[in-house]
Amino acid sequence: MTGPTALPMAGEPAPELVDIPALKAEVRELARERGAVILAHNYQVPEIQDVADYVGDSLGLSQTAARVEQDVIAFCGVHFMAETASILCPQKTVLLPDPDAGCSLADSITPPELDAWQAEHPGAITVMYVNTTAAIKALTDYCCTSSNAVQVVEHIRREHGEDVEILFGPDMFLGAYVQKTTGHANMHVWSGECHVHAGIRPDDISAVRAEHPGADFLIHPECGCVTSVMEYVASGDVDAAGVHMLSTGGMLQYAQEAQRTGSKVEVIVATETGMLYPMQQAAPGVTFIPANRAASCRYMKMITLPKLRDVLRDMTGEVRVAADLAERARLPIERMVAING
Ligand code: 13P
Ligand code: SF4
Repeated sequence: MTGPTALPMAGEPAPELVDIPALKAEVRELARERGAVILAHNYQVPEIQDVADYVGDSLGLSQTAARVEQDVIAFCGVHFMAETASILCPQKTVLLPDPDAGCSLADSITPPELDAWQAEHPGAITVMYVNTTAAIKALTDYCCTSSNAVQVVEHIRREHGEDVEILFGPDMFLGAYVQKTTGHANMHVWSGECHVHAGIRPDDISAVRAEHPGADFLIHPECGCVTSVMEYVASGDVDAAGVHMLSTGGMLQYAQEAQRTGSKVEVIVATETGMLYPMQQAAPGVTFIPANRAASCRYMKMITLPKLRDVLRDMTGEVRVAADLAERARLPIERMVAING
């Protein structure tokens, strides 16, 4: 892009004309001056991904936040992700460009609700998806992300016995997937959901399958279509070889591999549509088709270049988890990171 371009900005009445290349350069210069690293989730808008030092999935972002040397982390993602970075790096300054960038899934369980659930199941091991608040993590035994939920539950079965009672939350579709994959019977799943992924329904899959026969399927395990796709596979209706349940990081690796081997022409992607940008960049020779074009996370899209520029310039938007809460919330995250090595 060369000249001034209209940049849509969530939450602002009228799009303002901004010079994207100039803003990108300004952001990079401010990051250098502040000694800041810019981390971005795969669902961020393209221009944010372009200025980031690291783009990745929830697990990769946690791991990167824990190991970077910089004292300032500008976190382009949603609030629970910035909290996780602050929990892992209490000595660092974590900046979130918009404090309203929340998450409907993280909102689907509160500490009193989790307390009450645990009281009904004394002795059970609590596994919570990383898409939760620090207060929930503080009540949790193990965190997991979409890329390691199966591994975390398998680890718990090895450590605590095959009959161990597990409370899994808050995402019910991920929970159903983990339960089916591990075969762990003594598991209770919270009935929370991400409004974006829950909206990718079995009908979307049927329609897109009919339009693109032979295409591979990449499915984020938070999707509302997960159970039905597992049923299609079990009944032999869909070839298991072409179906991949993946985190966003796993989808990117798939794209890199598809480009390297040249073996794929069309691939259907069931997740938030921001994911198509890094995948298409990694594999220009493959056509990625969204399972549902309306699957856009308004929280992720709240992060814009002007807001990122402002927090770096003014050192505002800090997310800091109180020390005592952070200490309790760190343990389940560190257990998760240790399982992944
Ligand atoms: P992952 O990047 O871990 O796959 O998570 C997806 C998501 O919905 C994050 O909000
Ligand atoms: Fe939360 Fe869903 Fe948005 Fe991810 S896509 S941040 S889970 S609301």
